[in-house]
Amino acid sequence: MSKKKGNKLQVEAEIKEVICIKDNCRITVYAPHISHIAKPGQFVMVRTTDQTINDPLMRRPFSIHQVTDNEFSFVFKIVGRGTKLLSDKKKSGSLNIVGPLGNNFTIAETGNHYLVGGGMGIAPLYFLVEYLKKFSPSKNISVMLGSRTAKEFEIFSNFLNIDGITLKISTDDGSTGHHGLVLDLLEETVVKKGDGTVYCCGPYPMMQAIAKFCKNKKMNCQVSLETIMACGIGACLGCAVAGADNIRQDYVHVCKDGPVFEADKIWK
Ligand SMILES: Cc1cc2nc3c(=O)[nH]c(=O)nc-3n(C[C@H](O)[C@H](O)[C@H](O)COP(=O)(O)OP(=O)(O)OC[C@H]3O[C@@H](n4cnc5c(N)ncnc54)[C@H](O)[C@@H]3O)c2cc1C
Ligand code: FES
Repeated sequence: MSKKKGNKLQVEAEIKEVICIKDNCRITVYAPHISHIAKPGQFVMVRTTDQTINDPLMRRPFSIHQVTDNEFSFVFKIVGRGTKLLSDKKKSGSLNIVGPLGNNFTIAETGNHYLVGGGMGIAPLYFLVEYLKKFSPSKNISVMLGSRTAKEFEIFSNFLNIDGITLKISTDDGSTGHHGLVLDLLEETVVKKGDGTVYCCGPYPMMQAIAKFCKNKKMNCQVSLETIMACGIGACLGCAVAGADNIRQDYVHVCKDGPVFEADKIWK
């Protein structure tokens, strides 16, 4: 069942799969109305309880991780009540979802593609890789993913099955891949200045460091931001973030202006 609200859809989506590895989960839902129009970088707002219970009242935002025909999935870490309730959902129940919301990564027409993700910020990059392979097949795609540990990365093991890309992994404790920062991987991968576009999602300090690297290398950098969100559709102004222009004090609203921004619009 789907209801149209402006150009956003509210759907009651059948749950096809719930997988949890420790505190990290992936839920796949049958939602053709959303999966047919979604673009990489967009997100959905998910009710964590059924319609009769209003606690938690607010929907929770999640990036669209993977789209296959009529289904899409999102991946999340259990950090509070909403995500705990979602992790307890059972296959063949349903979820009330609004989406797709926000803007998307802009696919650069020239240069190579560098995708950099950290923690749960890895989630939107799977959809982006699949999209780039389809719509930008002649370009090199390098994917660099950073996690705390090998165990934390397991929920994203589907990246290991993507062919035709260069995939590098880093962990904070060295339990798999490079022992260190994902920025180290980007530094060793980008060999010359101006060589394409970096698409980035992860913790703020990581994205700031990546943005600085891109500035020095004269590379385009797109970052996907996360904030606490209440409405997800531009109505509550709760997701405001200060933009780079401190003099004009220009604020951006992550849900409607983003979540994807050119890095230099956020950090000078
Ligand atoms: C556009 C967007 C996309 C997102 N995509 C993903 C995703 O793909 N996977 C994923 O795991 N998470 C994602 N998040 C974050 C996710 O929405 C929150 O983790 C979730 O709402 C927490 O709900 P909760 O009820 O479990 O936690 P709460 O009980 O609401 O909060 C628990 C703790 O988490 C913190 N928290 C709550 N919301 C956020 C937030 N948005 N960002 C950072 N910290 C928060 C709170 O401050 C608190 O410390 C995304 C957020 C945004 C804005
Ligand atoms: S979350 Fe309400 S305006 Fe962005």
